Amino acid sequence: MGFRASLALAAFLPFAAQCGEAVWITPCTEKVSAAASFRRAFTNAGDVAAAWLRITSLGTFDAYLNGGRVGGDWLAPGFTQNERCRHEVTYDVSGSMARSAGAENVLTVDVGPCWWLDSIVRAHRGRELALRATLSVAYADGRCESFPTGLDWQGTYDGPISAAGIYEGEDYDARRVRTGWGKVRENTEFKGEVRPRPAGAAVIERADLEPRASSSEFMLEPGHTNVVDFSQNHAGVVSFDVEGPAGATVAVCFAEMLNDTGDPARGNDGPAGTPYLKNLRKARALFRYTLRGGGVESARPTMTYFGYRYAGFSCDRPVKVSKVRSHVLTSVTDVRGRIRTGNERVNRLIANCEWGHVSNYLSVPTDCPQRDERLGWTGDTQIFCRTAMYRADALGFLSKWLADQRDAQRADGGISDDAPNGPWGTFYGECGWADSAVIVPHTLWRMYGDLSPVRDHWTAMERHMDFLDANGGPLDRFCDWLSPVRNDPPFKALLCGAFWVWDARLMREMAQALGEQESVARYGALEARALAEWRGKYLDGDGSVKRELACQTANAYALYLDLLPTAEGRALTVGRLADDVKSRGGRLGTGFLGTAVICQTLVKVGRADLAYDLLLNRECPGWLYSVDQGATTIWERWNSYTKEKGFGDARMNSFNHYAYGSVMGWLYEDAAGIRPLKPGFSEIEIAPHPDPRLGFLEAEHLTPHGWVRVWWAYGFDGRLVWSYSTPDGAKANVRPPYRAKLVAWEKRR
Ligand code: BGC
Repeated sequence: MGFRASLALAAFLPFAAQCGEAVWITPCTEKVSAAASFRRAFTNAGDVAAAWLRITSLGTFDAYLNGGRVGGDWLAPGFTQNERCRHEVTYDVSGSMARSAGAENVLTVDVGPCWWLDSIVRAHRGRELALRATLSVAYADGRCESFPTGLDWQGTYDGPISAAGIYEGEDYDARRVRTGWGKVRENTEFKGEVRPRPAGAAVIERADLEPRASSSEFMLEPGHTNVVDFSQNHAGVVSFDVEGPAGATVAVCFAEMLNDTGDPARGNDGPAGTPYLKNLRKARALFRYTLRGGGVESARPTMTYFGYRYAGFSCDRPVKVSKVRSHVLTSVTDVRGRIRTGNERVNRLIANCEWGHVSNYLSVPTDCPQRDERLGWTGDTQIFCRTAMYRADALGFLSKWLADQRDAQRADGGISDDAPNGPWGTFYGECGWADSAVIVPHTLWRMYGDLSPVRDHWTAMERHMDFLDANGGPLDRFCDWLSPVRNDPPFKALLCGAFWVWDARLMREMAQALGEQESVARYGALEARALAEWRGKYLDGDGSVKRELACQTANAYALYLDLLPTAEGRALTVGRLADDVKSRGGRLGTGFLGTAVICQTLVKVGRADLAYDLLLNRECPGWLYSVDQGATTIWERWNSYTKEKGFGDARMNSFNHYAYGSVMGWLYEDAAGIRPLKPGFSEIEIAPHPDPRLGFLEAEHLTPHGWVRVWWAYGFDGRLVWSYSTPDGAKANVRPPYRAKLVAWEKRR
């Protein structure tokens, strides 16, 4: 915003407070299409200095001023807990206004069903689409004028969008123009709070992908599907130009994978080379565009998004398609970390983690962008959040999500499995999922040094802790979700107990930071009680984790959270963890929760070599297995696709799930060794753990105090060289890589 415009805004604000309040409006007309449209024309009472649009909706909106689209963001105002909160967005629209006195301006707004009354919403599904907006104009002579939504606006339910939904996709009939404008009525459905949309929660277009392995221009014939490969799995929408007869329809489907052999026994749902759609489950995920005819038309859906690498184009009459592009949609904007190694497979893995992040931070932190979920699953969020914070600024985005979590918290304090609530996720207080209520604010505070998420969430966390107390600790539904080894009730109980100790400890630390001494004592006592209980139930007489419960995940959490009382018990547990990794040939035996800490734990107990064995293993289960299969994102399951058996269980088989991508966080915090010793990196720890098998590693992360950089490399003679840099004046605690590593490397040779 320019200086003049800011002055105009400053002069205008007191006036804005006096003018009429915008009310929610809904068209009175018959419902012909899926979206509602609203319109207001107004004439300038003087020369325009500046103008602003403050807008929110029940549904997602697209606003157009004098035909030009307002704002560079998409799917506004975003996904929130419907009955509690809608976000309001303010745009500077000065540049789109006809500026001279007497000129006419027309504001048109479409509102579609997404995240309000489409099938992604479970409880509290909205009933009607509505708009609440104020267009405010500051004139050059100092006068101001406002046009709030009210009964003087026009509305219609008759426009080009005949179907729209996050899971459904969009049907757009270009033959229909918005027509049948009529009266609007006041809508009183929404009883929650309208809040300004927090920074970091907008959905923006990050990049354009061009089809690489295929052409962006082709003739399309009925009965044939033309598959376009964008070479990268991602979340977004396509755009294209199309020429053909009026009434012809182009249908675009979206797939992460292509069928490999066509063999149904391998999970194929069509002939080899066709889009594999089975894993979308009930998501229709289609964009259908019906042509106006008579020239080149441009198509792009605005009221949905998809998760895909491939787009399959088909039609009912011959048409020419050109300029096919994919637009990457995300809420990740401010990149603050980069990491690269001398191993190309690991670099592809890093890129896959980054794409998982970009694809799944979209208005809320989602599990996946393609099937009928795309929900703010709490477990996935806590597992990946630290990794996300190494890679990009996530303070605003996750603070907004914590507000969603508060809005979705049950009266008894229970934290739901997902926030905002979707069609799944109907359980509360689940181990490793609900605990995100404590882990996410704690991580935000550690990484950014900002206590405001902790303060804002404190009451919610205390209520969550009370809920756990009333239930004897976290509940045991998902735990080491999708573990290839075990997730049986006795093992789950061990994890629940461990997370309870962890919750209490993090609460104690946050209470300390807040200066809440009474809470420090309370959570300290709870931590001691939960720990004693855990030790009583899950340890053998020698102080190690009970043999019958031991596995990579159980042993890792025992060590990661310092739950073992004796040196003997720790040594035994470390030995068993090491033996487990070795006996599996360096393969992982962990699900969602275990994978998040296994490498960190191995470094912590002095076995970085084994963490690298896990990282570099190319068999299944292992990170590089998917890389070898050509993955461009992180898969939901270790065996989402195998050469031997084809596609994994389509009932739950996403190829863009970031949970296992938490290994990228490990590369920053242990391989590079960049850690916040004190909250917000006010004291930095530099403790790299190099391994010759990577060749070299270079990493950088922008802390609140400036860039931290670590670099290490092995020369041809096997010698390790390394360096680091920290921001001027920063306090750094440096632990140089241990010399024994070099010896170990020499032994290996
Ligand atoms: C989601 C997960 C989620 C899980 C609950 C799945 O369907 O995709 O990522 O955390 O359900 O365990």
